[in-house]
Amino acid sequence: MSEAIFSKAKEMKEEILAQLVSNEQELESFRIQYLGTKNQIKPLFAEMRNISNERKKEFGQLLNDLKQTAEHKFEELKGSVSGSANEGQAADLDLTAPPGEIVLGSRHPVSIVLNRFIKIFTKIGFTVVEDREVEDDWHNFTAMNTPEDHPARDMQDTFYLKDSTTDLLRTHTSSVQARVMTSQKPPIRIIAPGRVYRNETISARSHCQFHQVEGLYVDENVSFADMKQTLDYFAKEMYGPETKIRLRPSFFPFTEPSAEMDVWLGTETENARKLTKGTGWLEVLGCGMVDPNVLENCGIDSKKYSGFAFGIGIERSAMQKYGISDIRMIFENDIRFISQFKSEI
Ligand code: DAH
Repeated sequence: MSEAIFSKAKEMKEEILAQLVSNEQELESFRIQYLGTKNQIKPLFAEMRNISNERKKEFGQLLNDLKQTAEHKFEELKGSVSGSANEGQAADLDLTAPPGEIVLGSRHPVSIVLNRFIKIFTKIGFTVVEDREVEDDWHNFTAMNTPEDHPARDMQDTFYLKDSTTDLLRTHTSSVQARVMTSQKPPIRIIAPGRVYRNETISARSHCQFHQVEGLYVDENVSFADMKQTLDYFAKEMYGPETKIRLRPSFFPFTEPSAEMDVWLGTETENARKLTKGTGWLEVLGCGMVDPNVLENCGIDSKKYSGFAFGIGIERSAMQKYGISDIRMIFENDIRFISQFKSEI
C-alpha cells in the first residue's frame, strides 16, 4: 500500500517537471492544479497516517520536495510566459523615437459647403429639417403646383420606383416644403438639406444625384422685400461683405413671382470671368414667393399667410468655391481628391 503512495508522489514530481505553458491561462491552471487551495499534492499529505513510522520521515521529505518542485516550476513558467510577451514589445519599442504623424481626416467638399449654409441660416433663426428621399408624387409634384402634364414628371426626368407610378426618388428638396407645411403651423422658418435624384446622363456638368438646400419662410405679412433682405444677408455671409446680388425674373411652378439670384463676382480675375462666362454675374439660386396654391394644397390659409422659398444646389456652390470642373469627381470618393479641402468651420 505505502509503496503505491510513494510512487504516486514520484510520478507527480515527474509530471510537474514536464509541464509547459504558453500563456497566462495555462499558467493559472497550473497554479490551481498544484498550488491552489484544492491542489493535487494536498491529498498526499493526508496519506501520512497510513505510512509506517519508519518511513514517515522519508515520505515527509518526498512531499516537501514535491511542493517545492511545484513552487519552483511555477516561478519558471511564470517567467517564460511574461518574458515572451515582453520580448516582442521591447524589441519594437524605442522610447526615444519621435512620434509618428497623426493623419487627420478632412470633410467632403459637399459637407463643408452644406455646413456653411446651415451655419449662415441657423444664425438668423432657421431650423434644419430633413425628410425622406423616396417620396410620393403628391409631395414632390402635385402639392408643389406642378401639373400632371408637366415634363418634369416624365419617366425621362424622374426615377420612379419599380412597378410604381406614384413612388419616386425626389427630384428636389422642395418636397420637404410640402412635408413641413402639412405637419406644422406657421410661423415656419426652415432649411432642408438633402440628396436629390434626376434621370440625367452623367457628364462633367450634370449627375443623376446631387444635393440641394431648400429654404422656406411662412408667416403673416412675409414680403418679397423680406426675401431679398434674407438672401442679401446670405450672399454677404457666403461670398464676402462687399457682395452685391441681383434678382432676375424666372419661373418655377411653386413660386409666384419667381426669381433667380446672381451674385456679382466681377470680371477682374480669370476665375471670375470663367465662372461667370464673362458677365461678372454668377447664378446662385432659385427663389420666389410661395404660390398661394401651394399654401392651400398644404392646408395653410393663403389669405392670412404668405411666404418665400429658395433652393440652392450644393455641388454647384462647391464647384464654384473650389474651382472643381467636373461634378463626377465629387461622387467618386477618390481620397486624393476629397482630402484636399480644408474645412473652414
Ligand atoms: N426646386 C427647384 C429646382 O430643383 C429649386 C427652387 C427654385 C427651389 C425656387 C425653391 C424655389 O424653393 O423657390 O430646380
